[in-house]
Amino acid sequence: MTPNIGISAEKLEGIAKLLNTLLADEYVLYTKTRNYHWNVTGPNFTEYHTFFEELYDFVDEQIDEIAERIRTLGHFPLASLHEFLAVTRLLETKHQQSTALAMMQELLNDHETIIRMLRHDVQVTAEEFGDAGTSDFLTGLMAAHEKIAWKIRAYLS
Ligand SMILES: [Fe+2]
Repeated sequence: MTPNIGISAEKLEGIAKLLNTLLADEYVLYTKTRNYHWNVTGPNFTEYHTFFEELYDFVDEQIDEIAERIRTLGHFPLASLHEFLAVTRLLETKHQQSTALAMMQELLNDHETIIRMLRHDVQVTAEEFGDAGTSDFLTGLMAAHEKIAWKIRAYLS
């Protein structure tokens, strides 16, 4: 049943597509962050291991919120790794042998990439799709990613 919430079916489909792309990006970032949590080595292992856990917990929560926002709009979230990899704008990396600092730089790059895309999506959802609810949701998500990016950047400064 299409939600009767003042947004056309065509626009709801466009918003769901935008959110599904974001969902795929977050899923790739989640997997990458878990990779680093498992595989980081070095004298500050515990610090990085714990910090990476904080980061993937954050991303995990966002994944659920985005997927449920898609359901709220009457659509279905992508839900397989195959589908996520087909649409994500991020790149997977191996980094099993990488340094902790290189891992941090990679994560910072991904969070900043997502922030830039969210800044665009905040405008598109409000102006093109007339969806204040999703635009507001994405604004909050962007600010949360900005805070995470600050924490990662602080390590690298
Ligand atoms: Fe763990």
